[in-house]
Amino acid sequence: MANGCQPAIGRPGPPLPVTKRTAIAQVACCVGCCCGRTDRGFPPVPVDRLKAVWKEEKLNRTVQLTISGCLGPCDMANVILVMTAAGTEWFGNIDDEATFAAVIAWARACQAAKALVPLPSALDTFRFQRFAEVA
Ligand code: FES
Repeated sequence: MANGCQPAIGRPGPPLPVTKRTAIAQVACCVGCCCGRTDRGFPPVPVDRLKAVWKEEKLNRTVQLTISGCLGPCDMANVILVMTAAGTEWFGNIDDEATFAAVIAWARACQAAKALVPLPSALDTFRFQRFAEVA
């Protein structure tokens, strides 16, 4: 039930409960008020392709895909974030299909390895700092 994890933010307390879901990562892909809104001049987000691949290959068992509403940093549209036990990485200004294809390939590689594999280098140029530094 509990593995002894402590909250990353907040006060230490009793061990946290652990979900029965087996995913080792989660990708949130924004399609909010700006991301993917071609009618507003933003590049497309291949939502149908992402959903189809995840469903067909049952990738949610390893990497949960969440198609989300606005994640906040609209000035960086198109935005995705990748969450793992090690932390969260934000990527923005994604303007090409190839980068989404690299995310798909990464999720497939994680599933095949039954482990996290390094994020694709195709994402490197899209990484950004989401939150302001604490003064
Ligand atoms: S719509 Fe994607 S960050 Fe706001």
